[in-house]
Amino acid sequence: MATHKLLLLPGDGIGPEVMAEVKRLIDWIDAQGIARFTIENGLVGGAAYDADKLPITDATMAKADAADAIIFGAVGGPKWDSVPYEHRPEAGLLRLRKDLGLFANLRPAVCYPALAESSSLKREVVEGLDIMIVRELTGGVYFGEPKTITDLGNGQKRAVDTQVYDTYEIERIARVAFDLARKRQNKVTSMEKRNVMKSGVLWNEVVTQVHGREYKDVTLEHQLADSGGMNLVKWPKQFDVIVTDNLFGDMLSDIAAMLTGSLGMLPSASLGEVDAKTKKRKAMYEPVHGSAPDIAGKGMANPLAMIASFGMALRYSLEMGELADKVDQAIAAVLAKSLRTADIKSEGATVVSTSGMGEALLKELQALHA
Ligand code: NAD
Ligand code: IPM
Ligand code: MN
Repeated sequence: MATHKLLLLPGDGIGPEVMAEVKRLIDWIDAQGIARFTIENGLVGGAAYDADKLPITDATMAKADAADAIIFGAVGGPKWDSVPYEHRPEAGLLRLRKDLGLFANLRPAVCYPALAESSSLKREVVEGLDIMIVRELTGGVYFGEPKTITDLGNGQKRAVDTQVYDTYEIERIARVAFDLARKRQNKVTSMEKRNVMKSGVLWNEVVTQVHGREYKDVTLEHQLADSGGMNLVKWPKQFDVIVTDNLFGDMLSDIAAMLTGSLGMLPSASLGEVDAKTKKRKAMYEPVHGSAPDIAGKGMANPLAMIASFGMALRYSLEMGELADKVDQAIAAVLAKSLRTADIKSEGATVVSTSGMGEALLKELQALHA
Protein backbone atom coordinates (compact mmCIF):
# COMPACT_ATOMS: atom_id res chain seq x y z
CA MET A 1 0.00 0.00 0.00
CA ALA A 2 1.22 3.45 -0.89
CA THR A 3 2.55 5.67 1.90
CA HIS A 4 2.12 9.39 1.29
CA LYS A 5 4.21 12.05 2.92
CA LEU A 6 2.07 14.99 4.04
CA LEU A 7 3.06 18.27 5.66
CA LEU A 8 0.25 19.90 7.63
CA LEU A 9 0.55 23.66 8.13
CA PRO A 10 -2.55 24.78 10.09
CA GLY A 11 -1.44 28.42 10.54
CA ASP A 12 -3.56 30.95 12.41
CA GLY A 13 -7.14 31.81 13.35
CA ILE A 14 -9.58 29.22 12.05
CA GLY A 15 -6.69 27.42 10.25
CA PRO A 16 -6.08 24.93 13.09
CA GLU A 17 -9.84 24.50 13.61
CA VAL A 18 -10.53 23.43 10.02
CA MET A 19 -7.29 21.43 9.84
CA ALA A 20 -8.49 19.31 12.79
CA GLU A 21 -11.34 18.08 10.56
CA VAL A 22 -8.89 17.12 7.80
CA LYS A 23 -6.83 15.19 10.37
CA ARG A 24 -9.94 13.26 11.24
CA LEU A 25 -10.44 12.43 7.56
CA ILE A 26 -6.82 11.32 7.23
CA ASP A 27 -7.22 9.05 10.26
CA TRP A 28 -10.35 7.58 8.72
CA ILE A 29 -8.59 6.82 5.41
CA ASP A 30 -5.79 5.19 7.38
CA ALA A 31 -8.18 3.16 9.55
CA GLN A 32 -10.02 1.93 6.46
CA GLY A 33 -6.70 0.68 5.07
CA ILE A 34 -7.17 2.79 1.92
CA ALA A 35 -3.72 4.41 2.19
CA ARG A 36 -0.99 5.14 4.69
CA PHE A 37 0.36 8.55 5.54
CA THR A 38 3.52 9.88 7.10
CA ILE A 39 2.48 13.13 8.70
CA GLU A 40 4.75 16.05 9.50
CA ASN A 41 3.46 19.22 11.18
CA GLY A 42 4.84 22.71 10.86
CA LEU A 43 4.27 26.32 11.85
CA VAL A 44 3.47 29.05 9.35
CA GLY A 45 2.23 32.62 9.54
CA GLY A 46 1.70 34.32 12.88
CA ALA A 47 2.15 31.02 14.74
CA ALA A 48 5.63 30.69 13.22
CA TYR A 49 6.41 34.34 13.94
CA ASP A 50 5.50 33.90 17.60
CA ALA A 51 7.83 30.90 17.86
CA ASP A 52 10.73 31.91 15.59
CA LYS A 53 10.29 35.58 14.63
CA LEU A 54 9.84 34.41 11.02
CA PRO A 55 6.61 33.61 9.12
CA ILE A 56 8.19 30.32 8.03
CA THR A 57 11.61 28.82 8.82
CA ASP A 58 14.09 27.19 6.44
CA ALA A 59 13.52 23.92 8.32
CA THR A 60 9.78 24.05 7.54
CA MET A 61 10.56 24.97 3.92
CA ALA A 62 12.76 21.86 3.71
CA LYS A 63 9.89 19.72 5.02
CA ALA A 64 7.58 21.34 2.46
CA ASP A 65 10.05 20.56 -0.31
CA ALA A 66 10.13 16.90 0.72
CA ALA A 67 6.35 16.40 1.05
CA ASP A 68 4.11 14.69 -1.53
CA ALA A 69 1.50 17.27 -0.61
CA ILE A 70 1.33 20.26 1.71
CA ILE A 71 -2.01 20.89 3.40
CA PHE A 72 -2.29 24.55 4.38
CA GLY A 73 -4.91 26.13 6.67
CA ALA A 74 -4.83 29.95 6.75
CA VAL A 75 -2.56 32.71 8.06
CA GLY A 76 -2.85 36.24 9.38
CA GLY A 77 -4.81 38.21 11.93
CA PRO A 78 -4.84 41.50 13.86
CA LYS A 79 -2.38 40.15 16.45
CA TRP A 80 0.41 40.55 13.88
CA ASP A 81 -0.63 43.94 12.45
CA SER A 82 2.53 45.64 13.73
CA VAL A 83 4.98 42.94 12.65
CA PRO A 84 7.56 44.20 10.07
CA TYR A 85 6.22 43.86 6.52
CA GLU A 86 8.77 41.19 5.47
CA HIS A 87 7.80 39.05 8.45
CA ARG A 88 4.03 39.45 8.31
CA PRO A 89 2.15 36.10 8.41
CA GLU A 90 1.13 36.28 4.74
CA ALA A 91 4.83 36.32 3.75
CA GLY A 92 5.08 32.68 4.86
CA LEU A 93 2.37 31.65 2.42
CA LEU A 94 3.90 33.71 -0.39
CA ARG A 95 7.33 32.13 0.22
CA LEU A 96 5.85 28.63 0.02
CA ARG A 97 4.17 29.45 -3.30
CA LYS A 98 7.20 31.22 -4.81
CA ASP A 99 10.05 29.01 -3.57
CA LEU A 100 8.24 25.78 -4.46
CA GLY A 101 7.25 27.13 -7.89
CA LEU A 102 3.51 26.62 -7.31
CA PHE A 103 2.50 28.72 -10.30
CA ALA A 104 -0.94 27.25 -11.02
CA ASN A 105 -3.73 27.86 -8.53
CA LEU A 106 -6.91 25.95 -9.33
CA ARG A 107 -9.97 27.44 -7.65
CA PRO A 108 -13.14 25.56 -8.50
CA ALA A 109 -16.43 27.26 -7.66
CA VAL A 110 -19.25 24.77 -7.50
CA CYS A 111 -22.76 25.54 -6.31
CA TYR A 112 -24.01 22.42 -4.56
CA PRO A 113 -27.73 21.84 -5.27
CA ALA A 114 -28.70 22.26 -1.61
CA LEU A 115 -27.11 25.74 -1.54
CA ALA A 116 -28.81 27.22 -4.59
CA GLU A 117 -30.90 29.43 -2.27
CA SER A 118 -27.92 30.40 -0.05
CA SER A 119 -26.11 32.63 -2.50
CA SER A 120 -26.73 36.37 -2.46
CA LEU A 121 -27.76 35.88 -6.10
CA LYS A 122 -30.97 34.36 -7.46
CA ARG A 123 -31.35 30.58 -7.67
CA GLU A 124 -31.48 30.50 -11.48
CA VAL A 125 -28.19 32.41 -11.70
CA VAL A 126 -26.19 29.95 -9.57
CA GLU A 127 -28.02 26.61 -9.75
CA GLY A 128 -25.79 23.97 -11.39
CA LEU A 129 -22.79 26.30 -11.45
CA ASP A 130 -19.41 24.57 -11.93
CA ILE A 131 -16.55 26.83 -12.98
CA MET A 132 -12.80 26.66 -12.54
CA ILE A 133 -10.71 29.76 -11.98
CA VAL A 134 -7.07 29.21 -12.91
CA ARG A 135 -5.04 31.87 -11.14
CA GLU A 136 -1.38 32.51 -11.96
CA LEU A 137 0.27 32.34 -8.53
CA THR A 138 4.00 33.10 -8.63
CA GLY A 139 4.20 36.22 -10.81
CA GLY A 140 2.55 39.53 -11.46
CA VAL A 141 2.26 42.38 -9.02
CA TYR A 142 2.60 40.06 -6.02
CA PHE A 143 6.29 39.47 -6.71
CA GLY A 144 7.43 42.07 -9.30
CA GLU A 145 10.35 44.35 -8.39
CA PRO A 146 10.65 47.14 -7.41
CA LYS A 147 8.23 46.88 -4.52
CA THR A 148 8.97 49.81 -2.28
CA ILE A 149 7.76 52.69 -0.20
CA THR A 150 10.09 55.70 -0.51
CA ASP A 151 10.04 58.85 1.58
CA LEU A 152 10.12 61.75 -0.88
CA GLY A 153 11.26 64.12 1.83
CA ASN A 154 8.49 66.67 1.28
CA GLY A 155 5.98 65.08 3.59
CA GLN A 156 5.03 62.72 0.78
CA LYS A 157 5.78 59.04 0.33
CA ARG A 158 5.68 57.00 -2.87
CA ALA A 159 4.57 53.36 -2.93
CA VAL A 160 5.52 51.20 -5.90
CA ASP A 161 4.30 47.72 -6.82
CA THR A 162 5.37 46.28 -10.16
CA GLN A 163 3.37 43.99 -12.41
CA VAL A 164 5.74 41.74 -14.40
CA TYR A 165 4.97 38.78 -16.67
CA ASP A 166 7.32 36.92 -18.99
CA THR A 167 6.12 34.89 -21.97
CA TYR A 168 6.95 31.53 -20.35
CA GLU A 169 4.86 32.34 -17.28
CA ILE A 170 1.80 33.09 -19.39
CA GLU A 171 2.38 30.07 -21.65
CA ARG A 172 2.52 27.57 -18.80
CA ILE A 173 -0.57 28.88 -17.00
CA ALA A 174 -2.47 28.99 -20.30
CA ARG A 175 -1.61 25.33 -20.92
CA VAL A 176 -2.93 24.39 -17.46
CA ALA A 177 -6.20 26.15 -18.28
CA PHE A 178 -6.57 24.58 -21.75
CA ASP A 179 -5.73 21.09 -20.44
CA LEU A 180 -8.37 21.43 -17.73
CA ALA A 181 -10.95 22.74 -20.22
CA ARG A 182 -10.47 19.64 -22.39
CA LYS A 183 -11.66 17.51 -19.47
CA ARG A 184 -14.58 19.87 -18.76
CA GLN A 185 -16.76 21.95 -21.09
CA ASN A 186 -13.88 22.76 -23.48
CA LYS A 187 -14.01 26.52 -23.03
CA VAL A 188 -11.44 28.98 -21.68
CA THR A 189 -12.06 32.65 -20.92
CA SER A 190 -8.88 34.66 -20.47
CA MET A 191 -9.17 37.84 -18.39
CA GLU A 192 -6.74 40.77 -18.35
CA LYS A 193 -6.77 44.52 -18.91
CA ARG A 194 -5.02 44.93 -22.26
CA ASN A 195 -6.74 48.30 -22.64
CA VAL A 196 -4.60 49.72 -19.81
CA MET A 197 -1.75 47.38 -18.91
CA LYS A 198 1.23 46.27 -21.00
CA SER A 199 1.17 42.98 -19.11
CA GLY A 200 -2.42 42.64 -20.30
CA VAL A 201 -1.35 43.13 -23.92
CA LEU A 202 1.29 40.39 -23.60
CA TRP A 203 -1.07 38.11 -21.66
CA ASN A 204 -3.68 38.36 -24.42
CA GLU A 205 -1.11 37.81 -27.17
CA VAL A 206 0.54 34.77 -25.55
CA VAL A 207 -2.72 33.04 -24.60
CA THR A 208 -3.92 33.53 -28.19
CA GLN A 209 -0.67 32.07 -29.56
CA VAL A 210 -0.72 29.03 -27.27
CA HIS A 211 -4.32 28.42 -28.32
CA GLY A 212 -3.53 28.72 -32.03
CA ARG A 213 -0.51 26.42 -31.78
CA GLU A 214 -1.71 23.72 -29.41
CA TYR A 215 -5.38 23.96 -28.48
CA LYS A 216 -7.50 24.87 -31.52
CA ASP A 217 -10.09 22.30 -30.39
CA VAL A 218 -10.82 24.38 -27.25
CA THR A 219 -13.03 27.49 -27.46
CA LEU A 220 -11.11 30.57 -26.34
CA GLU A 221 -12.60 33.95 -25.52
CA HIS A 222 -11.08 37.07 -24.01
CA GLN A 223 -12.77 39.42 -21.56
CA LEU A 224 -11.47 42.55 -19.89
CA ALA A 225 -11.14 41.70 -16.20
CA ASP A 226 -13.46 44.46 -14.99
CA SER A 227 -16.43 43.54 -17.17
CA GLY A 228 -15.42 39.88 -16.69
CA GLY A 229 -16.08 40.42 -12.98
CA MET A 230 -19.43 41.91 -13.85
CA ASN A 231 -20.27 38.88 -16.02
CA LEU A 232 -19.25 36.55 -13.21
CA VAL A 233 -22.05 38.00 -11.11
CA LYS A 234 -24.51 38.59 -13.97
CA TRP A 235 -24.47 35.15 -15.59
CA PRO A 236 -21.66 32.94 -14.23
CA LYS A 237 -22.82 29.87 -16.13
CA GLN A 238 -21.36 31.39 -19.33
CA PHE A 239 -17.93 30.37 -17.96
CA ASP A 240 -16.15 27.03 -17.84
CA VAL A 241 -12.46 27.76 -17.15
CA ILE A 242 -11.28 31.31 -16.42
CA VAL A 243 -7.53 31.96 -16.68
CA THR A 244 -6.17 35.16 -15.19
CA ASP A 245 -3.25 36.76 -13.41
CA ASN A 246 -2.32 36.66 -9.74
CA LEU A 247 -4.19 39.76 -8.52
CA PHE A 248 -7.29 39.49 -10.72
CA GLY A 249 -7.47 35.79 -9.80
CA ASP A 250 -7.38 36.63 -6.10
CA MET A 251 -10.28 39.03 -6.42
CA LEU A 252 -12.37 37.07 -8.91
CA SER A 253 -12.17 33.91 -6.79
CA ASP A 254 -13.47 35.64 -3.66
CA ILE A 255 -16.31 37.02 -5.81
CA ALA A 256 -16.97 33.54 -7.18
CA ALA A 257 -17.17 32.26 -3.60
CA MET A 258 -20.42 34.09 -3.08
CA LEU A 259 -21.93 32.27 -6.05
CA THR A 260 -21.52 29.04 -4.09
CA GLY A 261 -23.07 30.31 -0.86
CA SER A 262 -19.96 31.04 1.24
CA LEU A 263 -16.25 31.70 1.12
CA GLY A 264 -16.10 28.74 3.51
CA MET A 265 -16.96 26.45 0.57
CA LEU A 266 -14.08 27.25 -1.82
CA PRO A 267 -11.06 24.91 -2.02
CA SER A 268 -7.90 25.32 -4.06
CA ALA A 269 -4.85 23.47 -5.33
CA SER A 270 -1.54 25.23 -5.96
CA LEU A 271 0.53 23.17 -8.38
CA GLY A 272 4.09 23.27 -9.71
CA GLU A 273 5.43 21.95 -13.00
CA VAL A 274 5.46 18.21 -13.62
CA ASP A 275 9.02 16.90 -13.23
CA ALA A 276 10.07 15.26 -16.50
CA LYS A 277 11.82 12.38 -14.70
CA THR A 278 9.65 11.59 -11.69
CA LYS A 279 6.36 12.73 -13.31
CA LYS A 280 5.56 14.28 -9.92
CA ARG A 281 4.77 17.89 -9.15
CA LYS A 282 5.05 19.93 -5.99
CA ALA A 283 1.65 20.81 -4.63
CA MET A 284 -0.03 22.66 -1.81
CA TYR A 285 -3.74 22.53 -0.98
CA GLU A 286 -5.26 25.60 0.63
CA PRO A 287 -8.79 26.90 1.08
CA VAL A 288 -9.47 30.22 -0.64
CA HIS A 289 -10.56 31.83 2.63
CA GLY A 290 -8.33 33.37 5.27
CA SER A 291 -7.95 33.04 9.03
CA ALA A 292 -11.35 34.66 9.69
CA PRO A 293 -10.34 36.51 12.89
CA ASP A 294 -13.98 37.53 13.46
CA ILE A 295 -15.04 33.94 14.16
CA ALA A 296 -11.75 32.31 15.24
CA GLY A 297 -11.86 30.31 18.47
CA LYS A 298 -15.63 29.96 18.40
CA GLY A 299 -15.85 26.53 16.76
CA MET A 300 -18.13 27.91 14.06
CA ALA A 301 -15.86 27.92 10.98
CA ASN A 302 -16.98 25.98 7.95
CA PRO A 303 -14.45 23.15 7.42
CA LEU A 304 -15.77 22.20 3.97
CA ALA A 305 -13.34 24.39 1.96
CA MET A 306 -10.44 22.80 3.85
CA ILE A 307 -11.87 19.30 3.47
CA ALA A 308 -12.53 19.85 -0.25
CA SER A 309 -8.94 21.15 -0.58
CA PHE A 310 -7.77 17.84 0.88
CA GLY A 311 -10.07 16.18 -1.67
CA MET A 312 -8.12 18.02 -4.37
CA ALA A 313 -4.91 16.60 -2.84
CA LEU A 314 -6.39 13.11 -3.15
CA ARG A 315 -7.13 13.83 -6.83
CA TYR A 316 -4.06 15.76 -7.99
CA SER A 317 -1.21 14.43 -5.79
CA LEU A 318 -2.15 11.17 -4.11
CA GLU A 319 -3.73 9.17 -6.93
CA MET A 320 -7.01 8.63 -5.08
CA GLY A 321 -9.38 10.24 -7.59
CA GLU A 322 -12.26 7.90 -6.72
CA LEU A 323 -12.03 8.78 -3.05
CA ALA A 324 -11.87 12.48 -4.03
CA ASP A 325 -15.17 12.00 -5.88
CA LYS A 326 -16.64 10.42 -2.75
CA VAL A 327 -15.50 13.36 -0.61
CA ASP A 328 -17.35 15.69 -2.99
CA GLN A 329 -20.42 13.43 -2.84
CA ALA A 330 -20.24 13.37 0.96
CA ILE A 331 -20.17 17.19 1.01
CA ALA A 332 -23.26 17.27 -1.21
CA ALA A 333 -24.97 14.70 1.02
CA VAL A 334 -24.32 16.58 4.27
CA LEU A 335 -25.67 19.77 2.73
CA ALA A 336 -28.68 17.91 1.34
CA LYS A 337 -29.51 16.92 4.92
CA SER A 338 -29.75 20.63 5.77
CA LEU A 339 -26.72 20.70 8.01
CA ARG A 340 -24.99 24.07 7.83
CA THR A 341 -22.26 25.99 9.58
CA ALA A 342 -23.32 29.51 10.51
CA ASP A 343 -21.69 31.19 7.50
CA ILE A 344 -24.33 29.75 5.16
CA LYS A 345 -27.78 31.26 5.14
CA SER A 346 -30.43 28.57 4.85
CA GLU A 347 -33.94 28.75 6.20
CA GLY A 348 -34.91 25.82 8.39
CA ALA A 349 -31.39 24.35 8.42
CA THR A 350 -29.68 22.83 11.43
CA VAL A 351 -26.64 24.90 12.39
CA VAL A 352 -23.68 22.76 13.44
CA SER A 353 -20.20 23.51 14.75
CA THR A 354 -16.95 22.98 12.85
CA SER A 355 -16.47 19.56 14.41
CA GLY A 356 -20.17 18.75 14.00
CA MET A 357 -19.79 19.33 10.26
CA GLY A 358 -16.58 17.25 10.15
CA GLU A 359 -18.30 14.38 11.96
CA ALA A 360 -21.36 14.49 9.70
CA LEU A 361 -19.13 14.44 6.65
CA LEU A 362 -17.26 11.35 7.83
CA LYS A 363 -20.56 9.59 8.47
CA GLU A 364 -21.62 10.24 4.86
CA LEU A 365 -18.23 9.16 3.56
CA GLN A 366 -18.45 5.95 5.58
CA ALA A 367 -21.86 5.23 4.05
CA LEU A 368 -20.57 5.90 0.52
CA HIS A 369 -17.51 3.73 1.11
CA ALA A 370 -19.37 0.75 2.55
P1 NAD B 1 -11.21 35.91 5.48
O1 NAD B 1 -11.32 34.98 4.35
O2 NAD B 1 -10.38 35.46 6.62
O3 NAD B 1 -12.66 36.28 6.02
C1 NAD B 1 -13.64 36.96 5.25
C2 NAD B 1 -15.04 36.68 5.83
O4 NAD B 1 -15.41 35.34 5.52
C3 NAD B 1 -15.09 36.79 7.36
O5 NAD B 1 -16.32 37.31 7.74
C4 NAD B 1 -14.98 35.35 7.82
O6 NAD B 1 -15.59 35.07 9.05
C5 NAD B 1 -15.66 34.60 6.68
N1 NAD B 1 -15.08 33.26 6.50
C6 NAD B 1 -13.92 32.97 5.88
N2 NAD B 1 -13.67 31.64 5.93
C7 NAD B 1 -14.70 31.09 6.58
C8 NAD B 1 -15.04 29.76 6.97
N3 NAD B 1 -14.24 28.71 6.65
N4 NAD B 1 -16.17 29.55 7.66
C9 NAD B 1 -16.99 30.57 7.96
N5 NAD B 1 -16.73 31.85 7.63
C10 NAD B 1 -15.61 32.12 6.95
O7 NAD B 1 -10.64 37.29 4.88
P2 NAD B 1 -10.19 38.64 5.62
O8 NAD B 1 -11.05 38.88 6.79
O9 NAD B 1 -10.10 39.62 4.57
O10 NAD B 1 -8.72 38.32 6.13
C11 NAD B 1 -8.38 37.92 7.45
C12 NAD B 1 -6.92 37.51 7.51
O11 NAD B 1 -6.71 36.33 6.72
C13 NAD B 1 -5.96 38.57 6.93
O12 NAD B 1 -4.83 38.58 7.72
C14 NAD B 1 -5.64 38.04 5.54
O13 NAD B 1 -4.39 38.45 5.06
C15 NAD B 1 -5.66 36.55 5.78
N6 NAD B 1 -5.93 35.73 4.59
C16 NAD B 1 -5.22 34.57 4.54
C17 NAD B 1 -5.45 33.69 3.51
C18 NAD B 1 -4.68 32.42 3.49
O14 NAD B 1 -4.01 32.13 4.45
N7 NAD B 1 -4.76 31.64 2.44
C19 NAD B 1 -6.44 33.97 2.56
C20 NAD B 1 -7.17 35.16 2.66
C21 NAD B 1 -6.91 36.04 3.71
C1 IPM C 1 -5.45 34.07 -1.01
C2 IPM C 1 -5.02 35.15 -0.03
C3 IPM C 1 -3.54 35.45 -0.19
C4 IPM C 1 -3.36 36.07 -1.57
C5 IPM C 1 -2.90 36.34 0.88
C6 IPM C 1 -3.19 35.88 2.26
C7 IPM C 1 -1.41 36.41 0.67
O1 IPM C 1 -5.82 36.26 -0.13
O2 IPM C 1 -4.85 32.99 -1.02
O3 IPM C 1 -6.42 34.28 -1.74
O4 IPM C 1 -3.55 37.29 -1.73
O5 IPM C 1 -2.99 35.33 -2.48
MN1 MN D 1 -7.53 35.99 -1.47
